Amino acid sequence: MTDSIKKLPMNMCVEIWRNVKPPVRPSEQMVAIYEDYVNKYCSDSGDWGLLGCTPELRSLAAEYASSLCCLDLNKDHYHGYAELCKQHPKESFMLCDWVCPGLTESFDLVLGDGSISMVSLHQYDEFLKNLHDMLLPGGCAFLRIQVSNTNPFNEPSEVIAWHRKNHSDQPIFRTSAFYMQILWQDSDLGAVNTEIYRDQMQKLYDAGEVTDEEYQQFMGKITPCPISYVEQEAFEAACEPYFDILDARFPEDFACSNVCPVYALKKK
Ligand SMILES: C[S@@+](CC[C@H](N)C(=O)[O-])C[C@H]1O[C@@H](n2cnc3c(N)ncnc32)[C@H](O)[C@@H]1O
Repeated sequence: MTDSIKKLPMNMCVEIWRNVKPPVRPSEQMVAIYEDYVNKYCSDSGDWGLLGCTPELRSLAAEYASSLCCLDLNKDHYHGYAELCKQHPKESFMLCDWVCPGLTESFDLVLGDGSISMVSLHQYDEFLKNLHDMLLPGGCAFLRIQVSNTNPFNEPSEVIAWHRKNHSDQPIFRTSAFYMQILWQDSDLGAVNTEIYRDQMQKLYDAGEVTDEEYQQFMGKITPCPISYVEQEAFEAACEPYFDILDARFPEDFACSNVCPVYALKKK
């Protein structure tokens, strides 16, 4: 009985993850960027931390790290994603909140895929300070973030036209939702303002710019947790007290990759 209760969320996690596409899960080029950074900036394997339970990054750690600790609020994700990755024999889990203080110097390298984007702009400083505190002297952090300033669009109709011209074989939500979220961002929190999102989406539907099916896709996938987008200049300024920036590279292998750079940071 207990087993079947435990199993359900894990199976759901796995199923959900299998259907998730970049950037929510790392693309091949993103993983290649992390791997390149490991080879370039980490002199030896070392003890790694992971902000979250991302299967692709756990598999990377299995290749290179001496040990890996996944830090997450949700232990189901840790167990659930285990069957999607190559697990390190010295892999562990720590239940924690990245924005709560108290994390001590433990890691030579910390990886995060979209982790800082899970907190609002107000919490970036706490997040980066805690990240700094959990790294050993000389340690590095490789973070894939979400930026707003490289969004090339000014109007939702431009996003839709771009999607129809270049990506009509893919669901519009997948190619365009990030750009729409940036256009309808609450500049204070960095996350999409869902009231504006609903309102603007309704207008596009009423004007016949999106079909019934496309409207349903967009509305059905309004993110339950606010995902923040940050100006690169503001992100780099927020890093300044804690990190030197070694590198920043954009993948190119999915539709909205130009808002998803991977940063390499070194603890000051
Ligand atoms: C790293 S993130 C972003 C999505 C992502 N690309 C991935 O790899 O799963 C997803 C994970 O972050 C965890 N999470 C979100 N906010 C958190 C926080 N403040 N502290 C610790 N874990 C958090 C969630 O439980 C979830 O497992």
